[in-house]
Amino acid sequence: MADFDGKIILITGGSSGIGRASAVELAKSGAFVIAIGRNPAHLRETSAMHENIYTVKADLSDESAMEDAKNEILKLAKRFGSTVFGFVHSAGVIYTEPFESFRKHELEEMFRVNVLSGFEIFRAILPLMRSGGSAVFVSSIDAFFGATEPPSSGYALTKGALVSLTNALASELGEKNIRVNAVIPGLIRTAMTEDFFSDEFAAQMEKFLSRVPLHRAGSADEVAKLVAFLLSEDASYINGDAIFIDGGYHAR
Ligand SMILES: NC(=O)c1ccc[n+]([C@@H]2O[C@H](COP(=O)([O-])OP(=O)(O)OC[C@H]3O[C@@H](n4cnc5c(N)ncnc54)[C@H](OP(=O)(O)O)[C@@H]3O)[C@@H](O)[C@H]2O)c1
Repeated sequence: MADFDGKIILITGGSSGIGRASAVELAKSGAFVIAIGRNPAHLRETSAMHENIYTVKADLSDESAMEDAKNEILKLAKRFGSTVFGFVHSAGVIYTEPFESFRKHELEEMFRVNVLSGFEIFRAILPLMRSGGSAVFVSSIDAFFGATEPPSSGYALTKGALVSLTNALASELGEKNIRVNAVIPGLIRTAMTEDFFSDEFAAQMEKFLSRVPLHRAGSADEVAKLVAFLLSEDASYINGDAIFIDGGYHAR
């Protein structure tokens, strides 16, 4: 297990699923984790999972709440020390609609939560990443493969934007010794996808899994291990990469 002893790492979407699993994985390796989420009960459950996990409640879809959220995050980070090491952007929301009927307010909410909030929070903590560091953006196979069922061109757009942002920041921040990478999960069993595992979607699930060489969904813990690896010194020369964690879906 990598050593994050005393390092401060911020995680958006730290209250559930992949972000929560990453928070626990990193806290177990010695990091001080600041988990950002919206749902107070989810945040309480997450902080109860490890004594090194602290939480900030923020609705990342609400532009007017962003300043307060950033201030609270910075205040908390400074309480633990003056230097932040890592950033994970896992907050995400999905609406599925055919392209023709996509609702603008849902597109805007996805763009705010999935892309802009990560952009803004990373930028806010950058001055505290004085000794270098590492960031991971959680994208999706939808950034690369169209026509998932049900379709969501809007979600794919936001997840593709994260890959572009990863590339741009990896080259821009390299001189500060800050590495930036993305993970590209396939189907992972979390609150976001739980409905898909019900009998109602059995046929679609079977169709999807027939394209996955390992023929199963992944777990949040499996993604968290990749996130922790990318943040760690073991990945010290990996920068600007986008790594699939999808049971081989992308290989078919
Ligand atoms: N599960 C998959 O199959 C899969 C595949 C590819 C990519 N991903 C991506 O993985 C990331 C994590 O998703 P997950 O599967 O772990 O789902 P999840 O368990 O539903 O987690 C989503 C997280 O985003 C947070 N969030 C959503 N809207 C928010 C808002 N307005 N303000 C603040 N936080 C907000 C949630 O906070 P609260 O719980 O506090 O509301 C939660 O912590 C997402 O970016 C998702 O797009 C997931």
